[in-house]
Amino acid sequence: MTEPRQNLFSEAQDVPTWTRNIDAIAGAFQQAQILITAVRANVFAQLEKPVVPADVASALGWSERGVRMLLDGLVALGLVERDGPNYRNTAAASACLIPGAPHDQTHIITHKAGGWESWGRLEEAVRTGAAIPRESPNRSPEDLRAFILGMADIGRMNAEAMLAALDIAPYRRMLDIGGGPGTYSIAFVKAQPDMRATVLDLPDVLPIGREQAERAGVSDKVTFIEGDLTTSDFGGPFDLILLSNIIHSVDASTNQDVVRRAHAALEPGGMLIIKDFLLDSGRVGPAYGLIFALQMLLHTPAGDTYTIDDVAAWTDAAGFPPGRFVDLAPQSRLWIVQRKRQS
Ligand SMILES: C[S@@+](CC[C@H](N)C(=O)[O-])C[C@H]1O[C@@H](n2cnc3c(N)ncnc32)[C@H](O)[C@@H]1O
Repeated sequence: MTEPRQNLFSEAQDVPTWTRNIDAIAGAFQQAQILITAVRANVFAQLEKPVVPADVASALGWSERGVRMLLDGLVALGLVERDGPNYRNTAAASACLIPGAPHDQTHIITHKAGGWESWGRLEEAVRTGAAIPRESPNRSPEDLRAFILGMADIGRMNAEAMLAALDIAPYRRMLDIGGGPGTYSIAFVKAQPDMRATVLDLPDVLPIGREQAERAGVSDKVTFIEGDLTTSDFGGPFDLILLSNIIHSVDASTNQDVVRRAHAALEPGGMLIIKDFLLDSGRVGPAYGLIFALQMLLHTPAGDTYTIDDVAAWTDAAGFPPGRFVDLAPQSRLWIVQRKRQS
């Protein structure tokens, strides 16, 4: 592939620059913890107007010394502005870091923060090749909610970008496999009023998705059904099937089988969109997908990130004609195929 690899740092920099890069990489966990600590304590909600550290400290019952340093850390991250003794949110923090804000990212931050302990045991996972055992096999209801609503936090803008890049006008019946909060189904039925969508997911997730569809005013157009993507017959026929951020959670042979069943559930001419952190040929980038593979090592028995060639091989084997690659962002790369029309 000839496009940029979108990795975090360029290989072509000189050694002095690399010493700074290495220092930034080694300390990146500090920045993450500043953000996580502020989000967990809902600090940004207090910073919508100018405040002094003593006000924030007294509202939280925390030390003024610690809060002053935390706020300075947020200034360092560019999330908070300081004017004399006062601190207040930047526009980005107001838009993204307050629960319910237009671009709320607080659930995904909470979800990522939940990986702090397991990332601290990365060496163990790399040594053994196995996930870090969870205390309980199932997520707590709070963790599940942060995970699923976190998917909505990151999905809303991706869905808009997908709609801008694709023509969905010909499609009416969508299946969203492992659709979670239903972000893409909700956006697609809003953009295409004749569309009806079915979201298939695990039983505990369905109420969270239904809540999201209700809130968006499309609960009559989006149906949530229980199913196991590793085994279910997907039924159909559908004319549009979406597999968004699913393939990384299972192994290649399971993905091959999911794609085969998706092909069977599509009507002739129907479209399958596989969206994930797809890697360039040779696994040389983008950074997001290369790093995310380790997230899967830590948390799943057999998950991984896959190259565009891997995904193309699954769709070829399932009987789809050659597909096309759409690069919306490192976190949102699409492989799109259409089932052959009957001749
Ligand atoms: C990373 S989330 C992606 C959610 C959604 N597709 C999106 O992109 O926002 C993975 C989703 O797959 C669901 N999932 C995981 N294993 C599943 C299985 N065996 N059967 C059905 N759904 C599953 C999870 O509950 C979750 O909603």
